[in-house]
Amino acid sequence: MTKLPDDFLWGGALAAHQFEGGWNQDGKGPSVVDVMTAGANGIPRKITETIEEEQFYPNHEAIDFYHHYKEDIALFAEMGLKCLRTSIGWSRIFPKGDETEPNEAGLKFYDDVFDELLKHNIEPVITLSHFEMPLHLAREYGGFRNRKVIDFFVKFAEVVFERYKQKVKYWMTFNEINNQMETNNPLFLWTNSGVTVEKGENAKEVMYQTAHHELVASALAVSKGKEINPDFQIGAMVSHVPIYPYSSNPEDIMLAEIYMRDRYFFPDVQVRGYYPSYALNEFKREGYNVVMKEEDAEILRNGTVDYLGFSYYMSTTVKSGDPKQETAETVNGGLPHGVENPYIKASDWGWAIDPIGLRYTLNRFYDRYQIPMFIVENGFGAVDTVEEDGSIHDEERINYLRSHIDMLEKAVYEDGVDLIGYTPWGIIDIVSFTTGEMKKRYGMIHVDRDNQGNGTMKRSKKDSFYWYKQVIATNGADL
Ligand code: BG6
Repeated sequence: MTKLPDDFLWGGALAAHQFEGGWNQDGKGPSVVDVMTAGANGIPRKITETIEEEQFYPNHEAIDFYHHYKEDIALFAEMGLKCLRTSIGWSRIFPKGDETEPNEAGLKFYDDVFDELLKHNIEPVITLSHFEMPLHLAREYGGFRNRKVIDFFVKFAEVVFERYKQKVKYWMTFNEINNQMETNNPLFLWTNSGVTVEKGENAKEVMYQTAHHELVASALAVSKGKEINPDFQIGAMVSHVPIYPYSSNPEDIMLAEIYMRDRYFFPDVQVRGYYPSYALNEFKREGYNVVMKEEDAEILRNGTVDYLGFSYYMSTTVKSGDPKQETAETVNGGLPHGVENPYIKASDWGWAIDPIGLRYTLNRFYDRYQIPMFIVENGFGAVDTVEEDGSIHDEERINYLRSHIDMLEKAVYEDGVDLIGYTPWGIIDIVSFTTGEMKKRYGMIHVDRDNQGNGTMKRSKKDSFYWYKQVIATNGADL
């Protein structure tokens, strides 16, 4: 029995900097991730001032899609993907970010990629900025803490909207725009916005100012996009880790509710077009001076999104009482009141595996916003074993994906959520964002490359490749 609409967008998700490589080819400028070294589970990636010769930067070459795109897209087509979510490397188009003219070679690369996808009936779903701001904008302007950067972003958006208006319908403005809420880890403000917090500054205040500029930039891009092609569907994209109360103790319930505001803040503005009262109250209470121009309210109102894209990997749980010490090393789910959920197991990287959390998320979001939802990331990062005959039996990944797809189907079928599609993360193995490792693999296609950058780059199919192909062919009926 088919459970999902016929036009359901089954796909895969990637981000330019994590798989393209070609970091300095055909005029591309360095981006904020090009100065990020490799880390590991619990070992943060370093952000170097410039590109240092003795350092290894895993994103520079990544899996070299830049030179393998035809081969890779043919594999995606063989799997039956209906769409591919990826991003445009901003610094491929505007190498420094503040030029008046775009880099034609960069634009041509995406023309070639989109044409190749369309040739195989794969619809491109495009994020404008997935942690790829030109480094120059971060170093010279201070990233999005500077209002001028809004104009550079909007210009970039306008150029690519105009260029690809016949090839791309689904867009998203900023990837996981809400990551930066976690200000105790410098990785997030840097990759979201090109911002570094200086000594003596209040990180939360800096973050809200930065966020305001980015929210205005996002809204302006939405309005511009609609002018260029009214058929565009332009979405927001947030990372969603639902926060559960540890118990039925009302203190736990209220604590979880308050923490959830950090998750809702960005989509509340992007979907509704105005600041929620809890945030305005927080600015007042904490004395944050968030500078806004008079016209911003109208810009936000006019630039609301058509759909909500989100990533879902895990849930987290909070318990009232004394908060634990925050550490800069805390990468994921690092809430001061965070505790282990006794009902949920975690992956080797400590990410709690909770399929019901996906159904719960879809319901809470849909109730709150009543616009279409798009699950644009979900997946299982794990170490894979390549058998002697070259096969890879990634049963755990299949189990993870199966259980999550089962829940999204229930959300559509039983709960009535309007869901556009599902694009599992890292459909082909890529460089991990938080750790820079290759061994944290999400793909259904294996790439022969290790953490140090050794390997032949050969692509091969894992068991999950065949499994997902069947899921798509049956529109989710055969899990
Ligand atoms: C999301 C990002 O945070 O999660 C991706 O949008 C990232 O860029 C993905 O790769 C998984 O995280 P990680 O650290 O396991 O690669």
